[in-house]
Amino acid sequence: MSKAPTIAIKNLKIALPKSGERAFAVDDVSIDLIPGEIVCVVGESGSGKSMCAHALMGLLPDTVQVAAGEIAFEGKDLLKLDEDGWRGTRGRGIAMVFQEPMTALNPLMRIGEQMMEMFEAHGLLTPKERRAKALSLAKEVGLPDPERIIRAYPHQLSGGQRQRAMIAMALALEPKVLVADEPTTALDVTTQAQILKLIRNLQRDRNMAVMFITHDFGVVADIADRVVVLRYGKVVEEGTIDAVFKNPQHDYTKALLAAVPSMHPPVRAPLDDTRRAVDVVGLDKTYVTPQGWFKPDRRVQAANEVTFSILKGEPVGLVGESGSGTAAPCESATSISPHSAARRCARSVIAFR
Ligand SMILES: Nc1ncnc2c1ncn2[C@@H]1O[C@H](COP(=O)(O)OP(=O)(O)O)[C@@H](O)[C@H]1O
Ligand SMILES: [Mg+2]
Repeated sequence: MSKAPTIAIKNLKIALPKSGERAFAVDDVSIDLIPGEIVCVVGESGSGKSMCAHALMGLLPDTVQVAAGEIAFEGKDLLKLDEDGWRGTRGRGIAMVFQEPMTALNPLMRIGEQMMEMFEAHGLLTPKERRAKALSLAKEVGLPDPERIIRAYPHQLSGGQRQRAMIAMALALEPKVLVADEPTTALDVTTQAQILKLIRNLQRDRNMAVMFITHDFGVVADIADRVVVLRYGKVVEEGTIDAVFKNPQHDYTKALLAAVPSMHPPVRAPLDDTRRAVDVVGLDKTYVTPQGWFKPDRRVQAANEVTFSILKGEPVGLVGESGSGTAAPCESATSISPHSAARRCARSVIAFR
Protein backbone atom coordinates (compact mmCIF):
# COMPACT_ATOMS: atom_id res chain seq x y z
CA MET A 1 0.00 0.00 0.00
CA SER A 2 1.37 3.43 -0.84
CA LYS A 3 2.13 5.95 1.93
CA ALA A 4 -0.29 8.73 2.76
CA PRO A 5 0.66 11.92 0.94
CA THR A 6 2.16 14.76 2.99
CA ILE A 7 0.68 17.18 0.48
CA ALA A 8 -2.34 16.54 -1.66
CA ILE A 9 -3.09 19.14 -4.32
CA LYS A 10 -6.62 18.49 -5.54
CA ASN A 11 -8.18 19.96 -8.67
CA LEU A 12 -6.32 23.24 -8.26
CA LYS A 13 -7.40 26.00 -10.59
CA ILE A 14 -5.69 29.39 -10.55
CA ALA A 15 -7.26 32.18 -12.60
CA LEU A 16 -5.05 34.70 -14.37
CA PRO A 17 -6.08 38.33 -14.75
CA LYS A 18 -8.11 39.22 -17.86
CA SER A 19 -4.96 40.48 -19.56
CA GLY A 20 -3.22 37.09 -19.02
CA GLU A 21 -2.14 34.85 -21.86
CA ARG A 22 -4.84 32.31 -20.94
CA ALA A 23 -7.73 32.04 -18.50
CA PHE A 24 -6.04 29.71 -15.98
CA ALA A 25 -2.36 29.51 -15.06
CA VAL A 26 -3.06 26.13 -13.45
CA ASP A 27 -6.16 24.21 -14.53
CA ASP A 28 -7.54 21.25 -12.58
CA VAL A 29 -4.13 20.09 -11.34
CA SER A 30 -3.88 17.26 -8.80
CA ILE A 31 -0.50 16.20 -7.42
CA ASP A 32 0.36 14.10 -4.35
CA LEU A 33 3.69 14.52 -2.57
CA ILE A 34 4.72 11.48 -0.56
CA PRO A 35 7.46 11.25 2.12
CA GLY A 36 10.76 9.97 0.71
CA GLU A 37 9.76 10.64 -2.89
CA ILE A 38 10.85 13.24 -5.44
CA VAL A 39 8.12 14.33 -7.82
CA CYS A 40 9.39 16.26 -10.82
CA VAL A 41 6.95 18.75 -12.31
CA VAL A 42 8.15 19.29 -15.83
CA GLY A 43 6.94 21.49 -18.66
CA GLU A 44 8.00 24.37 -20.86
CA SER A 45 8.28 27.93 -19.66
CA GLY A 46 4.81 29.32 -18.88
CA SER A 47 3.24 25.90 -18.27
CA GLY A 48 2.30 26.79 -14.67
CA LYS A 49 5.11 25.12 -12.70
CA SER A 50 6.06 28.13 -10.57
CA MET A 51 2.38 28.89 -9.87
CA CYS A 52 2.05 25.39 -8.36
CA ALA A 53 5.19 25.97 -6.27
CA HIS A 54 4.08 29.39 -5.08
CA ALA A 55 0.60 28.08 -4.19
CA LEU A 56 2.30 25.53 -1.91
CA MET A 57 4.17 28.32 -0.14
CA GLY A 58 1.30 30.82 0.05
CA LEU A 59 3.26 33.12 -2.23
CA LEU A 60 0.83 33.58 -5.12
CA PRO A 61 0.90 37.05 -6.69
CA ASP A 62 -2.04 39.33 -5.84
CA THR A 63 -2.99 39.45 -9.50
CA VAL A 64 -4.14 35.80 -9.56
CA GLN A 65 -7.08 34.07 -7.85
CA VAL A 66 -7.51 30.50 -6.69
CA ALA A 67 -10.74 29.62 -8.50
CA ALA A 68 -11.15 26.04 -7.25
CA GLY A 69 -9.42 23.15 -5.51
CA GLU A 70 -7.55 22.57 -2.27
CA ILE A 71 -4.05 21.85 -1.01
CA ALA A 72 -4.12 19.56 2.01
CA PHE A 73 -1.09 19.50 4.31
CA GLU A 74 -1.42 17.44 7.48
CA GLY A 75 -5.18 17.87 7.51
CA LYS A 76 -5.06 21.63 6.88
CA ASP A 77 -6.19 23.26 3.66
CA LEU A 78 -3.30 25.59 2.90
CA LEU A 79 -5.51 27.75 0.72
CA LYS A 80 -7.50 28.74 3.78
CA LEU A 81 -4.51 29.79 5.94
CA ASP A 82 -4.19 33.39 7.07
CA GLU A 83 -0.80 35.15 7.36
CA ASP A 84 -0.34 33.82 10.92
CA GLY A 85 -1.05 30.30 9.77
CA TRP A 86 1.49 30.71 6.97
CA ARG A 87 4.17 31.95 9.36
CA GLY A 88 3.90 28.69 11.27
CA THR A 89 3.90 26.56 8.12
CA ARG A 90 6.50 28.19 5.87
CA GLY A 91 9.98 27.01 6.67
CA ARG A 92 8.82 24.54 9.33
CA GLY A 93 6.33 22.49 7.33
CA ILE A 94 7.19 23.43 3.76
CA ALA A 95 10.36 25.14 2.56
CA MET A 96 11.39 26.36 -0.86
CA VAL A 97 14.55 26.72 -2.90
CA PHE A 98 14.45 29.19 -5.80
CA GLN A 99 16.23 29.27 -9.15
CA GLU A 100 18.17 32.42 -8.33
CA PRO A 101 19.58 32.31 -4.79
CA MET A 102 20.15 36.07 -4.76
CA THR A 103 16.37 36.63 -4.76
CA ALA A 104 16.19 34.78 -1.45
CA LEU A 105 19.51 35.72 0.18
CA ASN A 106 20.02 39.11 1.76
CA PRO A 107 23.12 40.63 0.07
CA LEU A 108 23.95 42.68 3.18
CA MET A 109 23.97 39.84 5.71
CA ARG A 110 26.58 37.19 6.31
CA ILE A 111 25.52 33.66 5.32
CA GLY A 112 25.70 32.38 8.90
CA GLU A 113 23.61 35.27 10.23
CA GLN A 114 20.93 34.51 7.65
CA MET A 115 20.85 30.88 8.74
CA MET A 116 20.68 31.90 12.41
CA GLU A 117 17.82 34.26 11.61
CA MET A 118 15.69 31.27 10.58
CA PHE A 119 15.77 30.05 14.20
CA GLU A 120 15.53 33.50 15.71
CA ALA A 121 12.37 34.29 13.72
CA HIS A 122 10.71 31.25 15.28
CA GLY A 123 12.13 31.92 18.76
CA LEU A 124 14.19 28.72 18.65
CA LEU A 125 17.55 27.97 20.34
CA THR A 126 20.01 30.24 22.13
CA PRO A 127 22.38 32.44 20.10
CA LYS A 128 25.22 29.98 20.75
CA GLU A 129 23.12 27.01 19.66
CA ARG A 130 22.01 28.91 16.56
CA ARG A 131 25.62 29.48 15.55
CA ALA A 132 26.48 25.80 16.08
CA LYS A 133 23.44 24.82 14.03
CA ALA A 134 24.40 27.20 11.18
CA LEU A 135 27.84 25.61 11.11
CA SER A 136 26.46 22.06 11.06
CA LEU A 137 24.01 22.97 8.27
CA ALA A 138 26.84 24.49 6.22
CA LYS A 139 28.73 21.20 6.68
CA GLU A 140 25.69 19.10 5.83
CA VAL A 141 25.20 20.83 2.46
CA GLY A 142 28.88 20.39 1.61
CA LEU A 143 30.00 24.02 1.76
CA PRO A 144 33.80 24.08 1.73
CA ASP A 145 35.54 25.60 4.75
CA PRO A 146 32.22 26.13 6.63
CA GLU A 147 33.82 28.30 9.35
CA ARG A 148 34.84 30.83 6.71
CA ILE A 149 31.69 30.51 4.59
CA ILE A 150 29.31 31.36 7.41
CA ARG A 151 31.18 34.63 7.88
CA ALA A 152 31.06 35.44 4.14
CA TYR A 153 28.53 37.61 2.30
CA PRO A 154 26.50 36.11 -0.56
CA HIS A 155 28.51 37.92 -3.26
CA GLN A 156 31.68 36.23 -2.02
CA LEU A 157 30.29 32.78 -2.86
CA SER A 158 30.12 31.04 -6.24
CA GLY A 159 26.71 30.28 -7.78
CA GLY A 160 26.84 26.67 -6.63
CA GLN A 161 27.87 27.68 -3.09
CA ARG A 162 25.03 30.19 -2.91
CA GLN A 163 22.59 27.49 -3.95
CA ARG A 164 24.01 25.21 -1.22
CA ALA A 165 23.60 28.03 1.31
CA MET A 166 19.98 28.50 0.29
CA ILE A 167 19.34 24.76 0.57
CA ALA A 168 20.86 24.88 4.09
CA MET A 169 18.45 27.68 5.02
CA ALA A 170 15.51 25.76 3.59
CA LEU A 171 16.48 22.73 5.68
CA ALA A 172 17.08 24.69 8.89
CA LEU A 173 13.68 24.05 10.45
CA GLU A 174 13.54 20.46 9.23
CA PRO A 175 10.59 20.83 6.85
CA LYS A 176 8.58 17.81 5.81
CA VAL A 177 8.22 19.15 2.28
CA LEU A 178 10.84 20.78 0.07
CA VAL A 179 9.78 22.67 -3.04
CA ALA A 180 12.64 23.35 -5.45
CA ASP A 181 11.79 25.63 -8.39
CA GLU A 182 14.43 25.12 -11.11
CA PRO A 183 17.26 25.28 -8.54
CA THR A 184 19.95 24.23 -11.00
CA THR A 185 18.86 25.97 -14.20
CA ALA A 186 21.39 28.80 -13.80
CA LEU A 187 24.32 26.53 -12.92
CA ASP A 188 27.06 24.85 -14.92
CA VAL A 189 26.33 21.23 -15.73
CA THR A 190 28.96 19.89 -13.33
CA THR A 191 27.70 22.06 -10.46
CA GLN A 192 24.15 21.09 -11.40
CA ALA A 193 25.05 17.41 -11.07
CA GLN A 194 26.51 18.04 -7.57
CA ILE A 195 23.45 19.99 -6.41
CA LEU A 196 21.07 17.31 -7.73
CA LYS A 197 23.04 14.67 -5.83
CA LEU A 198 22.94 16.81 -2.69
CA ILE A 199 19.15 17.26 -2.87
CA ARG A 200 18.75 13.54 -3.51
CA ASN A 201 20.87 12.62 -0.47
CA LEU A 202 19.22 15.14 1.85
CA GLN A 203 15.78 14.00 0.77
CA ARG A 204 16.67 10.39 1.56
CA ASP A 205 18.34 11.16 4.91
CA ARG A 206 15.42 13.29 6.06
CA ASN A 207 12.64 11.33 4.37
CA MET A 208 11.25 14.55 2.90
CA ALA A 209 8.59 14.83 0.23
CA VAL A 210 10.11 16.87 -2.59
CA MET A 211 8.49 18.72 -5.47
CA PHE A 212 11.26 19.45 -7.92
CA ILE A 213 10.45 21.76 -10.82
CA THR A 214 12.38 21.72 -14.05
CA HIS A 215 11.92 22.20 -17.80
CA ASP A 216 14.72 19.74 -18.51
CA PHE A 217 14.04 16.02 -18.96
CA GLY A 218 17.77 15.39 -18.50
CA VAL A 219 17.37 16.62 -14.92
CA VAL A 220 14.20 14.56 -14.50
CA ALA A 221 16.15 11.44 -15.47
CA ASP A 222 18.72 12.22 -12.76
CA ILE A 223 16.48 12.95 -9.84
CA ALA A 224 12.80 11.96 -10.19
CA ASP A 225 10.90 9.07 -8.70
CA ARG A 226 7.68 10.24 -10.27
CA VAL A 227 6.95 12.73 -13.05
CA VAL A 228 4.06 15.11 -13.66
CA VAL A 229 4.03 16.75 -17.10
CA LEU A 230 2.32 20.15 -17.29
CA ARG A 231 1.24 21.90 -20.47
CA TYR A 232 -0.67 25.20 -20.58
CA GLY A 233 -1.55 24.67 -16.92
CA LYS A 234 -2.95 21.16 -17.31
CA VAL A 235 -1.47 17.81 -16.32
CA VAL A 236 -1.05 15.90 -19.57
CA GLU A 237 0.79 12.90 -18.15
CA GLU A 238 1.82 11.44 -14.83
CA GLY A 239 3.70 8.31 -13.90
CA THR A 240 6.77 6.72 -12.40
CA ILE A 241 10.08 7.72 -13.94
CA ASP A 242 10.34 4.30 -15.60
CA ALA A 243 6.89 4.40 -17.11
CA VAL A 244 7.20 7.94 -18.46
CA PHE A 245 10.67 7.41 -19.95
CA LYS A 246 10.06 3.96 -21.40
CA ASN A 247 6.52 4.41 -22.52
CA PRO A 248 5.44 8.06 -22.77
CA GLN A 249 1.77 8.35 -23.67
CA HIS A 250 1.21 11.99 -24.59
CA ASP A 251 2.70 13.56 -27.72
CA TYR A 252 3.90 16.53 -25.64
CA THR A 253 5.86 14.21 -23.31
CA LYS A 254 7.34 12.50 -26.37
CA ALA A 255 8.37 15.88 -27.78
CA LEU A 256 10.01 16.92 -24.48
CA LEU A 257 11.89 13.63 -24.36
CA ALA A 258 13.00 13.99 -27.98
CA ALA A 259 14.35 17.46 -27.17
CA VAL A 260 16.92 16.08 -24.67
CA PRO A 261 20.31 16.49 -26.36
CA SER A 262 21.66 13.16 -27.52
CA MET A 263 25.13 11.99 -26.52
CA HIS A 264 25.38 10.34 -29.98
CA PRO A 265 26.04 13.04 -32.57
CA PRO A 266 24.87 12.31 -36.11
CA VAL A 267 27.48 11.24 -38.66
CA ARG A 268 28.64 14.26 -40.65
CA ALA A 269 30.31 14.40 -44.05
CA PRO A 270 34.09 14.99 -43.68
CA LEU A 271 35.22 18.56 -44.32
CA ASP A 272 38.17 19.62 -46.41
CA ASP A 273 40.75 20.62 -43.77
CA THR A 274 42.65 22.83 -46.20
CA ARG A 275 39.66 25.20 -46.32
CA ARG A 276 40.29 27.04 -43.06
CA ALA A 277 38.08 29.95 -42.05
CA VAL A 278 39.90 30.97 -38.87
CA ASP A 279 43.15 30.00 -37.18
CA VAL A 280 43.57 30.92 -33.54
CA VAL A 281 47.23 30.51 -32.68
CA GLY A 282 48.66 30.66 -29.17
CA LEU A 283 46.03 33.02 -27.80
CA ASP A 284 46.95 34.39 -24.38
CA LYS A 285 44.64 36.72 -22.60
CA THR A 286 44.99 38.27 -19.18
CA TYR A 287 42.41 40.50 -17.58
CA VAL A 288 44.05 43.14 -15.43
CA THR A 289 41.85 44.98 -12.98
CA PRO A 290 43.35 47.88 -11.01
CA GLN A 291 42.67 47.50 -7.27
CA GLY A 292 43.39 51.09 -6.33
CA TRP A 293 46.50 52.85 -5.07
CA PHE A 294 49.24 50.79 -3.40
CA LYS A 295 47.54 47.51 -4.25
CA PRO A 296 48.81 45.21 -6.99
CA ASP A 297 46.52 44.80 -10.00
CA ARG A 298 44.31 41.71 -9.99
CA ARG A 299 45.33 39.46 -12.87
CA VAL A 300 43.25 36.65 -14.26
CA GLN A 301 44.63 34.59 -17.08
CA ALA A 302 41.53 33.87 -19.16
CA ALA A 303 43.30 32.14 -22.03
CA ASN A 304 46.64 30.39 -22.04
CA GLU A 305 48.19 29.31 -25.36
CA VAL A 306 44.83 28.51 -26.95
CA THR A 307 45.19 27.15 -30.46
CA PHE A 308 42.45 25.84 -32.74
CA SER A 309 41.10 26.25 -36.25
CA ILE A 310 37.64 26.55 -37.74
CA LEU A 311 37.08 25.13 -41.19
CA LYS A 312 34.78 26.73 -43.73
CA GLY A 313 31.22 25.49 -43.20
CA GLU A 314 32.11 23.93 -39.86
CA PRO A 315 30.28 24.74 -36.62
CA VAL A 316 32.74 24.43 -33.73
CA GLY A 317 31.51 24.04 -30.17
CA LEU A 318 33.71 25.76 -27.59
CA VAL A 319 32.87 24.05 -24.32
CA GLY A 320 33.87 24.76 -20.74
CA GLU A 321 32.49 25.63 -17.34
CA SER A 322 31.85 29.17 -16.28
CA GLY A 323 35.27 30.82 -15.76
CA SER A 324 37.12 28.43 -18.08
CA GLY A 325 37.89 31.15 -20.62
CA THR A 326 35.63 30.22 -23.53
CA ALA A 327 34.68 33.85 -24.10
CA ALA A 328 38.29 34.99 -24.58
CA PRO A 329 38.81 33.77 -28.17
CA CYS A 330 35.36 35.07 -29.19
CA GLU A 331 36.04 38.50 -27.70
CA SER A 332 39.43 38.72 -29.34
CA ALA A 333 38.06 37.57 -32.70
CA THR A 334 35.30 40.16 -32.66
CA SER A 335 37.20 42.89 -30.78
CA ILE A 336 34.38 42.95 -28.26
CA SER A 337 35.22 42.80 -24.62
CA PRO A 338 32.93 43.40 -21.69
CA HIS A 339 36.01 44.25 -19.66
CA SER A 340 37.58 46.61 -22.18
CA ALA A 341 38.83 48.90 -19.42
CA ALA A 342 40.58 46.05 -17.70
CA ARG A 343 41.67 44.16 -20.77
CA ARG A 344 45.21 43.67 -21.90
CA CYS A 345 45.74 41.16 -24.62
CA ALA A 346 49.33 40.04 -24.20
CA ARG A 347 49.81 37.98 -27.30
CA SER A 348 47.53 36.47 -29.87
CA VAL A 349 47.27 35.80 -33.53
CA ILE A 350 43.83 35.39 -34.98
CA ALA A 351 43.89 35.09 -38.73
CA PHE A 352 40.72 35.29 -40.79
CA ARG A 353 41.24 33.56 -44.12
N1 LIG B 1 2.74 37.54 -11.44
C1 LIG B 1 1.97 37.10 -12.45
N2 LIG B 1 0.88 37.78 -12.82
C2 LIG B 1 0.09 37.36 -13.85
N3 LIG B 1 0.36 36.26 -14.58
C3 LIG B 1 1.43 35.54 -14.27
C4 LIG B 1 2.32 35.93 -13.19
N4 LIG B 1 3.33 35.02 -13.13
C5 LIG B 1 3.10 34.12 -14.12
N5 LIG B 1 1.97 34.41 -14.81
C6 LIG B 1 1.38 33.64 -15.92
O1 LIG B 1 0.99 32.37 -15.40
C7 LIG B 1 1.24 31.33 -16.34
C8 LIG B 1 2.12 30.29 -15.68
O2 LIG B 1 3.36 30.87 -15.34
P1 LIG B 1 4.48 30.15 -14.46
O3 LIG B 1 3.83 29.35 -13.41
O4 LIG B 1 5.43 31.20 -14.03
O5 LIG B 1 5.15 29.18 -15.53
P2 LIG B 1 6.49 28.31 -15.45
O6 LIG B 1 7.01 28.38 -14.07
O7 LIG B 1 6.05 26.94 -15.87
O8 LIG B 1 7.42 28.91 -16.45
C9 LIG B 1 1.84 32.01 -17.55
O9 LIG B 1 0.80 32.22 -18.46
C10 LIG B 1 2.37 33.32 -17.01
O10 LIG B 1 2.33 34.31 -18.01
MG1 LIG C 1 8.90 29.10 -13.38
